[in-house]
Amino acid sequence: MAKVEVDLSSIPEGKNVIVKWQGKPVFVRHRTGEEISEANSIDVSSLKDPQTDSDRVKQPEWLVMLGVCTHLGCVPIGESGDFGGWFCPCHGSHYDISGRIRRGPAPLNLEIPTYEINGSTLVVG
Ligand code: FES
Repeated sequence: MAKVEVDLSSIPEGKNVIVKWQGKPVFVRHRTGEEISEANSIDVSSLKDPQTDSDRVKQPEWLVMLGVCTHLGCVPIGESGDFGGWFCPCHGSHYDISGRIRRGPAPLNLEIPTYEINGSTLVVG
């Protein structure tokens, strides 16, 4: 399967980029310290799809996930919604700064693709 490489040094803290992998958008966010704290401050047992933040990242500052809403597949909008993460405008699903579903019809957190981080290079796939 084709892999995609992303130069992480080109993504400033607090910014998102979207790359394409296997025809799907992949969201890459360089999270701030505040965002990492926020992601870890959640009571996981209150979540619809309970996952800790560390279940979802390899390095806390880099959140890498498929940009495909787990409801019916729309592409959520970054830096939006009521939980500091992503918002899917199709039917109103709100995801947090770890990509976890917090409100709305989506059943699951945004999916994490296979990836590796080697130095400042992200390899998706
Ligand atoms: Fe995202 Fe329905 S496809 S809320």
